[in-house]
Amino acid sequence: MKTLLTTLPEDAAEIIRRGGVVAFPTETVYGLGADIFNEGAIEKIFEAKGRPADNPLIVHIADIAQIRLLTDDLTFSADALFRAFAPGPITVVVPRSSKVPSIATAGLETIGIRMPRLAIAREFLSACGVPVAAPSANISGRPSPTTWQAVLEDLNGRIDCVLQGNESEIGLESTVVDCTSDPPVVLRAGSISVEQLRAVIPGVRQLDSNDVERPRSPGLKHRHYSPLANVVIGLRGSVNENGAYIGLRRPEHEFRHMRICEDLNEYARSLYEFFRECDRLGIPSIHCEPVEETGLGLALMDRIRRAAEPAS
Ligand code: TXA
Ligand code: MG
Repeated sequence: MKTLLTTLPEDAAEIIRRGGVVAFPTETVYGLGADIFNEGAIEKIFEAKGRPADNPLIVHIADIAQIRLLTDDLTFSADALFRAFAPGPITVVVPRSSKVPSIATAGLETIGIRMPRLAIAREFLSACGVPVAAPSANISGRPSPTTWQAVLEDLNGRIDCVLQGNESEIGLESTVVDCTSDPPVVLRAGSISVEQLRAVIPGVRQLDSNDVERPRSPGLKHRHYSPLANVVIGLRGSVNENGAYIGLRRPEHEFRHMRICEDLNEYARSLYEFFRECDRLGIPSIHCEPVEETGLGLALMDRIRRAAEPAS
């Protein structure tokens, strides 16, 4: 199929209304969207990405009023977190309404809901007129795309349309909070930090990787965010000068490809695109400087760790 490129949210929305799949920008990463109530369209998302059928999608809304189409039970904690942080980079997991096709939630009785804050995303979602299910717009297992060019690199010819926007300003996926349990549990760290969540709901728990009830978030068990290159945390072990480096401080060695970031925000924003650049250059290994695991640093280290895990 030919993938249409457009900068007009209304044109992209028309394709959603006709049952197509459209990649669109958000403040976190680009998403690959389809009408949540159109099962055939939802199937196309799984197909285009090569996404395992047991990994649920999150649904994007333009307006708080759309929540009632998706759940009959917006829990107290979900309501409080949405009031505090939506629109923005947060996803709340709540019980799913029976009207939502179960293919979208991979058979789970719960659904993740997110309201992006990026203006062009909101215009697009309003014009769609329906909630839009959307995972990140990458081939499954690859780093999430933060530019429309990165979307095309993975999905050109496999999707109907790309709504072209700017580079994503955050660059890491949203904070996912399971609000079906009391206290709520952070399933995926993001730029809205645990500290910020606890300012609203003091009891919020963090999932630790040894948690026995795992995985409550099916996506956590799949390989994620990985470039082809071997990702190494820090400069331990043998440093390959043919390799690459990204971090806040300039390393002692020279590397073939380097990115020194001004601050944590720039590091987070640049990580996935740096991974992709390294793959384009055929670089064998990428050293990532570790950072302190508080605030945004927790989300950044989570993504770096997953990328550094050996393929399973
Ligand atoms: O920032 C974001 O969240 C981006 C943009 C496009 O909105 N989307 C995104 O979607 O990262 P995706 O599908 O790549 O990641 C969603 C994560 C997955 O790990 C999935 O398993 C988890 O959220 N998830 C979705 N629905 C869930 C549910 N009902 N219960 C538990 N986990 C869920
Ligand atoms: Mg993803």
